[in-house]
Amino acid sequence: MSEAESPLRFAVVGCGVIGRHHAAVITGRPDAELAAVVDPVPSAADELAAQYGVTAYNDLGDVLARDDIDGVALCTPSGDHAEQAVLALRAGKHVVIEKPLDVDLVAAARLAEVANRSTASATVISQHRFDPATEVVRAAVESGKLGRLTSAVASVAWWRSQSYYDSGAWRGTKAHDGGGALINQSIHTIDLLIWLLGDPVEVTAYSACLAHDGLDVEDTAVAVIRFDSGALAVVHGTTAAYPGTSARLQVHGTHGSAIIDDDRLVYFHAGGSGAEAPAYGGGDTNQAALVLPAQDTGPSAGAEPSALSNAHSLQYADFLTAIRTGTEPLVTIAEATKTLAVILAIYDSAARHVPVPIPSAASTGG
Ligand SMILES: NC(=O)c1ccc[n+]([C@@H]2O[C@H](COP(=O)([O-])OP(=O)(O)OC[C@H]3O[C@@H](n4cnc5c(N)ncnc54)[C@H](O)[C@@H]3O)[C@@H](O)[C@H]2O)c1
Repeated sequence: MSEAESPLRFAVVGCGVIGRHHAAVITGRPDAELAAVVDPVPSAADELAAQYGVTAYNDLGDVLARDDIDGVALCTPSGDHAEQAVLALRAGKHVVIEKPLDVDLVAAARLAEVANRSTASATVISQHRFDPATEVVRAAVESGKLGRLTSAVASVAWWRSQSYYDSGAWRGTKAHDGGGALINQSIHTIDLLIWLLGDPVEVTAYSACLAHDGLDVEDTAVAVIRFDSGALAVVHGTTAAYPGTSARLQVHGTHGSAIIDDDRLVYFHAGGSGAEAPAYGGGDTNQAALVLPAQDTGPSAGAEPSALSNAHSLQYADFLTAIRTGTEPLVTIAEATKTLAVILAIYDSAARHVPVPIPSAASTGG
């Protein structure tokens, strides 16, 4: 590796569940290096810093002032993301922002403005876009092999205990988590839905908190989304489905269908012609094992965070390449704003009991 290609030095900001994962991912990559960690809770910062032999800080400003740090990974409560990303970009640091981009579209638009003027790059974590199963389905959609997309179902039926919500003062709060089961847990599957189906235009939704105490957010929500293309989708997201089953995405079109369940391609059929098929379709049509023969059969996506796949590392690879080549990463602030806008529109529809138009990326600053 030449000097110009020496590993980029990152600080992990927020040493909780996902911050520890970022520290491991950065350390495991040849093109990145962990240089520091930050957490206002001294024991959290000290423990992670000691594990990797790096410096611990308690204030983001201290790492932003260091010239030998190239980027930061924001793994803090969701409501802090945009504000911290603005500070980092203004200090000339590249930024990896954990999902969601933020909890507020105004803050997201402000960040987009700063990012557009910055020489530093930013990406928002949406690691499941990098799953092999997602790549197969995305390629089939892009090449038209599924035909005209007609409908989709995104369902995340997980369980989070009361102790999960009690484990951090920010969890399950409107101000810092932005919402509940949708914006925190189901966001990955909703992001894939939007990435595959295109521009959403209107949503109608219901939400409720049915299995947890003390939350001012939903633990269960259902929505229907109408897309610009005419396609229709159902969203179902919950952390009240004991013991927790799977995150599932079904995409259906006139020439094929695909089902991803817990990051694995469980059904795939593409390139058929619905017009020529028997009246009721059918037959032994599953090509999943042919198009993706070696699939990870590891733990389910809703399991312990320690069971996270290597998809974060794949997203770092994409981001580091984008920085080095001066290109856009796959998940831009505009892309993440689109997903945030859909989730906030679902909340708005559920709160007001009316269909809600989804603002276009242009009007949200994305
Ligand atoms: N991509 C994924 O699969 C995934 C998984 C889990 C969490 N997340 C996201 O990561 C973020 C953090 O979630 P978590 O589960 O790790 O939460 P957590 O509560 O376990 O950790 C958050 C940490 O941030 C620290 N913190 C708070 N304010 C800070 C500040 N101003 N500067 C630095 N550190 C600060 C807290 O002390 C805590 O240690 C959330 O936005 C969440 O949605 C993403």
